[in-house]
Amino acid sequence: METTVPSFVLDAASSAKRITVLTGAGMSAESGVPTFRDAQTGLWEQFDSEALATPQAWDADTDFVWACYVWRMALVRRVSPNAGHIALARWQAVSDLRIATQNVDDLHERAGSEVLTHVHGSLFASRCSGCEAPYDAEIDLPDEPFERITPPVCPGCGGAVRPGVVWFGENLPEGSFDSAVDAVTDSDLVLVVGTSGMVYPFAALPEIARGGGARVVEINPNETALSRSLDFSWQEGAAIALPALVDALGIP
Ligand code: OAD
Repeated sequence: METTVPSFVLDAASSAKRITVLTGAGMSAESGVPTFRDAQTGLWEQFDSEALATPQAWDADTDFVWACYVWRMALVRRVSPNAGHIALARWQAVSDLRIATQNVDDLHERAGSEVLTHVHGSLFASRCSGCEAPYDAEIDLPDEPFERITPPVCPGCGGAVRPGVVWFGENLPEGSFDSAVDAVTDSDLVLVVGTSGMVYPFAALPEIARGGGARVVEINPNETALSRSLDFSWQEGAAIALPALVDALGIP
């Protein structure tokens, strides 16, 4: 689908020497990964995804929460990076462009980008819920959703293996937010792609970027909690806007 790159965005991108792209679930929406706050589908549709993403939910029903996450892992394994992920990889190949993401999928990497920081962890970095040791063995991914799956057991201490994502009330991976702050304060242009701007501290990064002198542009088909406090809001999907922008910049 064709779109016109707004002149503000093209000017800001053409003149930027250092760029940071902040991504959220909308970045992967056109790959077929459901966002968090748009309507959910499937087995977990009746559950608020935030209610599942807590240590309390894990303690109350470990097999249920594990089943939810292995289904998400299976879903991410089945889908591909979209044109937006690929455009960012093209742009990064020729520019000083950092990516800081809230996403726990690996679609930026599979498109060929290097990700500076996964601020909310990774679906594919499971670890022991007891001793915290990384769990590197292959995880069986189901072909269909199950309501309950018992997680693997840590070979070191016998604890249950948990997903490597950050749950509400937990600390972010060490240094993950600081590196995002360093990136945005060192940038001329910050793109905020596909996030509702509801979850802090990540949602503070656009404001921190503006405080550091960057121009901040949102790419999102919908208005968000951030839209009114940024320099420009481009209401377009990531898989349409980013390739259009990278093409307009003349990047191969
Ligand atoms: P949300 O689900 O809150 O927001 C997704 C955003 O993507 C919305 O603003 C949509 O309008 C937008 N969107 C939808 N389709 C899009 C498209 N094709 N292109 C661009 N944008 C599109 O997801 P996040 O903001 O990423 O945290 O959520 C933040 C955090 O809340 C997640 O990392 C997760 C969740 O709970 C944890 O699990 C700790």
